[in-house]
Amino acid sequence: MCGIVGYIGDKKAKPILINGLLKLEYRGYDSAGISTLENSEISCVKNKGRVSELNDLAEKQNLDGSIGIAHTRWATHGKPSSENSHPHMDNNKAFSVVHNGIIENYSELRDFLTKKGYHFLSQTDTEVIPNLIHYYYFQDTSDDSAKFLRAVKRACDDLNGSYAIEVISSLSPDRIIVTRKDSPLVIGKGKNENYISSDIPAILSFTKDFYLLNDNEYVEIFKTGEKFYDRNLKSIKKDLKNIDWDATAAEKDGFEDYMLKEIFEQPRSIRETIGSRLRENEKTVLDDICLSKEYLASLNKIYIIACGTAMYAGLVGKCLIENLCNIPVEVDIASEFRYRNPIIDKKTLAIYISQSGETADTIAALKLAKSRGATTLAISNVIGSSITREADYSIYTHAGPEIAVASTKAYTAQVTLLSIIAIYFAETLGSCNKGLLNELKSDIFKLPEQVEEILSNLNDLKAFAKEVHREHDVFFLGRGNDYAVALEGSLKLKEISYIHSEAYAAGELKHGPIALIEPGITVVSILTNPLLLEKSISNIQEVVTRGAKTLVITNQELKNYSFDMVLRIPKTNPYLSPVLSVIPLQLFAYYISKEKKLDVDKPRNLAKSVTVE
Ligand code: M6R
Repeated sequence: MCGIVGYIGDKKAKPILINGLLKLEYRGYDSAGISTLENSEISCVKNKGRVSELNDLAEKQNLDGSIGIAHTRWATHGKPSSENSHPHMDNNKAFSVVHNGIIENYSELRDFLTKKGYHFLSQTDTEVIPNLIHYYYFQDTSDDSAKFLRAVKRACDDLNGSYAIEVISSLSPDRIIVTRKDSPLVIGKGKNENYISSDIPAILSFTKDFYLLNDNEYVEIFKTGEKFYDRNLKSIKKDLKNIDWDATAAEKDGFEDYMLKEIFEQPRSIRETIGSRLRENEKTVLDDICLSKEYLASLNKIYIIACGTAMYAGLVGKCLIENLCNIPVEVDIASEFRYRNPIIDKKTLAIYISQSGETADTIAALKLAKSRGATTLAISNVIGSSITREADYSIYTHAGPEIAVASTKAYTAQVTLLSIIAIYFAETLGSCNKGLLNELKSDIFKLPEQVEEILSNLNDLKAFAKEVHREHDVFFLGRGNDYAVALEGSLKLKEISYIHSEAYAAGELKHGPIALIEPGITVVSILTNPLLLEKSISNIQEVVTRGAKTLVITNQELKNYSFDMVLRIPKTNPYLSPVLSVIPLQLFAYYISKEKKLDVDKPRNLAKSVTVE
């Protein structure tokens, strides 16, 4: 989820690149760098920190080239540092590369290159790319102008994962080569100049004419023209598109708000969180943690501690870990845990979930467990965040920067990652039959496409939200994991629509809350577990009888029942259903907020990171 920019033309590249990076900083801001080419020499400046700091540094350097590439980073492999910042170069400094995405097989490629005599200066997945290009360039015995392009293509053939790449070379100093797979990249056409970017807004002030690149296409970009190629390097033609966006809309990729953009990013953020961790018929790989079978078997308790949405993701994690690993799991709110003198010892594993990694209560709760001898594991979306620096082990969701205050893509990435961790623990312990684990894995792989399916059919939900937007109370019901999602759906609605809402375990209804049900009140129910279906339907019937307006989100057959709206979602294992059932709830809250003309991204009284108690 980084941002990349490139320029080739008559002007000095540096100010154009810095300008583009500043516009992309919302995508990643832990480090930044630029490389320019002049007199067949590559100069590079990169640094941990913001683009403004890079600018100060670049001012002091001789970066006068009119060809350049640049990058602002959101760390995925390797902490934010100068060495891990992009651009990365090969050992001979002939090729300079910026990369957006994740190379899943980078450790195998590192081994391959190390055997060929290459060495590595960073902990990133990206550094294999310039070295592979160098390797293939010098394997190629022909000597024509397409040699650079062939080397880039051969290197990309070796890469698994997602990438948008820009490459410059001192051996072919008249061009930039770019390509992409599962990561955006556009080329902006000017007069005797070309611009490149991962996002249109970064270069929209320079041109409105764009070539939109497809996966596995390669482009040689020159000052006065560009040559396009397909995956086999066969020459292809591409049409220019005029993009007439205003700059603010463009920053959100054309979405009205960051929250909507982030909701729609979920297929990708789930896919990137799965990455190469999960493998069919092979053991799950979690490089970042090292917990032995003996250690896991010795545990008498696992705590999952977090706040808000992250805590609700933890509830889904509890169900997974208890059922797959047979270890008791207690989920707690960080601000409660830290003051309630919890029972902790060496046989306790404490897992902390935090999108930002900076939530004050979660950090304090982590320090407490650590001081009492527990092993601590942090799950965060931000590499190098405070929580990951405190914890014994850290493991990352790859959701990319989440800007909207209401958390969406971080939640689905957290639940996905918790399911992978539960499978990893179960495989290490041998606590669960392989058939179930394989079924779960194959269901996890299907999640990104299933989320896409939900996102492609939203009209009825929008219409229902419109009907509800003037109400003062909404109830959410569910059992088991559906209750965990009901809590998250209710929080989303409160946060961005300012409508009072409560989530109840459906079985609790008769113990009090049903007194609040009166004609016309909206009740949202989630029904995804076939084993609990009949019981949950009875609970919904109880509110229907009392005149409630009902929205039911389900992947089950519901014949012979009449509810005001039934929203169907794809079938998956009940352990994983929160990843799918939460999507309509996020959008339900979003549409109501929009209908009420509220500020969706910055709801009143809230902050993205709660860094104080
Ligand atoms: O950054 P964290 O995951 O630690 O944040 C925890 C909560 O503050 C956060 O999830 C909050 O509840 C969100 N605004 C929910 O949308």
